[in-house]
Amino acid sequence: MAVEQPVGVPDHPAAAGDATAVAHPNIALIKYWGKRDERLVLPWTDSLSLTLDVFPTTTRVRLAPGAGRDAVTLDGVPLAGEPRRRVVAFLELVRERAGLALPAVVETRNTVPTGAGLASSASGFAALAAAAGAAYGLGLDATGLSRLARRGSGSAARSVFGGFALWHAGQPGHADADLGSYAEPLPVPVRALDPALVVAVVDAGPKAVSSREAMRHTVDTSPLYRPWAASSQADLIEMRHALDRADLDAVGEIAERNALGMHATMLAARPAVRYLSAATLTVLDAVLELRRGGVAAYATMDAGPNVKVLCRGADAQRVAAAVRGAVGTAAVHLAGPGPGARLLGANPDANPGANP
Ligand code: DP6
Repeated sequence: MAVEQPVGVPDHPAAAGDATAVAHPNIALIKYWGKRDERLVLPWTDSLSLTLDVFPTTTRVRLAPGAGRDAVTLDGVPLAGEPRRRVVAFLELVRERAGLALPAVVETRNTVPTGAGLASSASGFAALAAAAGAAYGLGLDATGLSRLARRGSGSAARSVFGGFALWHAGQPGHADADLGSYAEPLPVPVRALDPALVVAVVDAGPKAVSSREAMRHTVDTSPLYRPWAASSQADLIEMRHALDRADLDAVGEIAERNALGMHATMLAARPAVRYLSAATLTVLDAVLELRRGGVAAYATMDAGPNVKVLCRGADAQRVAAAVRGAVGTAAVHLAGPGPGARLLGANPDANPGANP
């Protein structure tokens, strides 16, 4: 799919009118959990992730001068309710910045099980930000695109970049808080680290509580939230050192404890939010067993029961076999470091975030 026939918006020469972008999900090794500003999507803590090379989202945005309102589809099906509201609110933000009131046709193709804690909102809003930014002619650089994607879904700020990315929370109380909160690519010796993620989908169904709602409830009611946020900043510093020296065991240990700590904050919320299922714990046992057998394997879980196991690329098949052996019904996917968001059919200079 290339950028096709611009519809032509004569008074806005920068607007392509029609743009298609692709973005990949990312998995946080240091989690984002909790906002200090809901409207601007500003987090309490920095987070750090790896963008994957599987489950891309492709989004086309076409300006539709004759239409009465936005038309938004996901895999050919019109979106309704909250998912549609979030996309339309995002388009409103883009229109406001572009000074262009035209509605749009938004067509998204997702290859990730939507809502299953596999970060479809990260790839989704990164692709939407890139496509809408180009269609409406915002002329953003990669940092600007990351800030914009953040407004759709926090984790999307990181999917703008390939490989490892660090999302700066920004300074609370700063005069222009929006400017200070963006992701940037992290230089990591990826070849020496040889990271792979074995994704164990133990349940592909939609989650009962959205991550947005769950993190709000956790911040508001969990006595463990503040201690976790403080320890997460310390984890981040250690994680950066571990990545610098390509120490996969240290990276895995820190990622696993950070994720378990995040889930502990939810379990301590009132009432508790529990995403981890019996199958999740079975996979965690299998990961522990792998480690006892000398394989570097470490688990991380997001707002859902599915488990992503960090390991060396060289061990990925063995880890996948162990996970399949533990939960026969799990769909298991192998992933490696993937690229950042990019416009299809565009000049490479228009894709500043695309390469790790
Ligand atoms: C558990 O980015 O989906 O995956 O900003 O409300 O859209 P919103 O939340 P979202 O939350 C992701 C949370 C997480 C951890 C992470 O990706 O860092």
